[in-house]
Amino acid sequence: MIKVIRTVKAAQRYFRGARADRKALGFVPTMGALHTGHMSLVRRSMNENELTAVSIFINRTQFNDTSDYSEYPRPLDQDLAQLESAGVDVAFCPDTKELYAEGYRYRIQETSLSKELEGASRPGHFDGVLTVVMKLLSIVTPHRAYFGEKDWQQYQLIRDMADAFFLETEIMLCPLIRDSDGLALSSRNALLSDRERTIAPRFYEILSLQASVEQKKNLLNKSGFQVDYVEERDGRVLAAVWLGEVRLIDNVCIDW
Ligand code: PAJ
Repeated sequence: MIKVIRTVKAAQRYFRGARADRKALGFVPTMGALHTGHMSLVRRSMNENELTAVSIFINRTQFNDTSDYSEYPRPLDQDLAQLESAGVDVAFCPDTKELYAEGYRYRIQETSLSKELEGASRPGHFDGVLTVVMKLLSIVTPHRAYFGEKDWQQYQLIRDMADAFFLETEIMLCPLIRDSDGLALSSRNALLSDRERTIAPRFYEILSLQASVEQKKNLLNKSGFQVDYVEERDGRVLAAVWLGEVRLIDNVCIDW
């Protein structure tokens, strides 16, 4: 039976016990609406640790857009059932008051990479992400925490934060999981209309072409996307587009 913990105090008590038992603890932070991408992180953690905890917390401070926050899918019962059938030990599902009792007066800010790409389009986004991840890691104190390549910039910032603050948790990177038509799995895909869903796989197709950034932007525009950014960094092309009201991100290795 999965143990569902809702308060910080109860979580601290539980994880103190796990530390005393010297159990290797893996942790997967999520905002819920779990899909195969999330579950690949969960399975990896379960393979590599004796105990796996998953957090489900829709972190308001990382949403720069209030309608994005209010429309974010929240199928909590379904999520818990999925975690239970996967054999996850603990789900930590606090509410905002639990995690932000101080009202977000204290926050983690990275001053360089967090201002670019996603950060340029979503001011304050990474302050919210880094702050909540720091809070969660402080409560759970896992040996390993798992993050997806889907959010490449987020992974880089969390990995470097862990180094900067000498955290003992090992930050693990897991491969990006796609649907059979190439679309990167994302909780926001559920918000696409049927028509948008048929166009969406073109995003990955176009990013994967051996073409210049300018050519990719043109092709995306022609296919019905509104381009936010397409940039090449460290042998990858990173991109964000709007398809109707839904913002999609993706990244592809370009090692040709
Ligand atoms: P969320 O979008 O729910 O994602 C939770 C984790 O699942 C992240 O590490 C993300 O990169 C990974 N993930 C999402 N889609 C994936 C896919 N298709 N393939 C592989 N991994 C995938 O990212 C967040 O939540 C939040 O910012 C969080 C870190 C929980 C802080 O609030």
